[in-house]
Amino acid sequence: MATASRTLFSRAFQTAARQALPKPTLRRNLTTFNTTSTRSTAQSLRRGAQNARRQSTQATPPKKGGNGLLLGVLAVIAIGGGGYAYTSGALDAYLVDPEEAKKPKTGKGWIPSFKDYQDVYNDIAAILEEDPDYDDGSYAPILVRLGWHASGTWDKESKTGGSNGATMRFGPEGGHGANAGLPVARDLMEKIKQKHPWITYSDLWTLAAVTAIQEIGGPNIPWRPGRTDKDITACTPDGRLPDASKEQKHIRDIFYRMGFNDQEIVALLGAHAIGRCHPDRSGYEGPWTFSPTFFTNAFYQLLLEEKWINKKWKGPNQFIDKKSGGLMMLPTDMALVKDKEFRKHVERYAKDEKVFFDEFSDAFAKLLELGVPFEKDDKWTFKRTTDDA
Ligand code: HEM
Repeated sequence: MATASRTLFSRAFQTAARQALPKPTLRRNLTTFNTTSTRSTAQSLRRGAQNARRQSTQATPPKKGGNGLLLGVLAVIAIGGGGYAYTSGALDAYLVDPEEAKKPKTGKGWIPSFKDYQDVYNDIAAILEEDPDYDDGSYAPILVRLGWHASGTWDKESKTGGSNGATMRFGPEGGHGANAGLPVARDLMEKIKQKHPWITYSDLWTLAAVTAIQEIGGPNIPWRPGRTDKDITACTPDGRLPDASKEQKHIRDIFYRMGFNDQEIVALLGAHAIGRCHPDRSGYEGPWTFSPTFFTNAFYQLLLEEKWINKKWKGPNQFIDKKSGGLMMLPTDMALVKDKEFRKHVERYAKDEKVFFDEFSDAFAKLLELGVPFEKDDKWTFKRTTDDA
């Protein structure tokens, strides 16, 4: 599509969406909305937002609290719509005996069902936009980062690290430089843990990442429970997570150590379509895309389409887009277009969002399972709160 009509479409959509949405002060009251028409309005606005966003390389970069407002309102409406649970892989697990459901969710012999986990999913979904002033209006990106940093410590040789253990709860690992800022996500999950004390932190954090991705328009991520929490002695040494100032060799060292190949690495890094860098956390600054609270393939499109120049500042070396100066790329992100093997996957994903979604889903589900000794073979797909009941 030509640039001009792309911009026009994007502006037209934004105006329509602004007019259609209630004032921010009314947003809290929207949680009581529960009609099909409200849900479908939310869905069509959301679809419109996704279309506008896909064509938005000419748009204005997001301001904090900016486009999150739209997603926030849509999500609150959708949550008010209240999806209920079903599972593609394990319907039997959802069809709980009503007598069973009344029993207390504790004690020996009680085994949580799919519905219990779907309840946790729904409760996480319900607080993603609870603070419109947080970043771009959603906690989804930082929950994805929590799930990734909890899992990305896996070392396939020593069989240590990974999501099984939730050892980031303890000082030695929580204090690693790479984990700066993640107390925000862990504290948020504490509320969910209090309501569902039976779930392990390691299951909860990975389920939170799944919820976050699905609720902001990403692919389904099949998930299964079975992680246990370990003590402080299982904390991993510092240096297992990637260093953003480095390039392809380092990226391969880190991800090959976990058991990923080049295609999976490029797919995983597409998560940088969401969220932003914070100077007080990593030292870097800014979002990667114009739509940091929507999961899309925009990261790859922008990598290829924009001209990226070094940012002139006192902070660590990073790149900004020449056109608006409001977007950023890390040195590790730029390595994906510099390296021939990586680049061919960047091109595939930029061209076809479905291919990206499918391959991201496989790689992310694998990441969350590294080193976990599951007893259960089949995986569950949780129902989005944005889907029709
Ligand atoms: C070479 C690999 C990677 C490097 C060097 C890297 C580096 C970073 C850095 C420096 C930040 C900014 C943190 C802050 O200042 O708040 C960040 C944020 C983020 N990363 Fe990565 N990352 C990598 C891979 C991944 C992967 C594999 C995922 C998920 C699949 C991921 C998901 C995210 C998300 C969602 C954020 C935004 C967090 C927020 O908005 O608070 N990253 N990453």
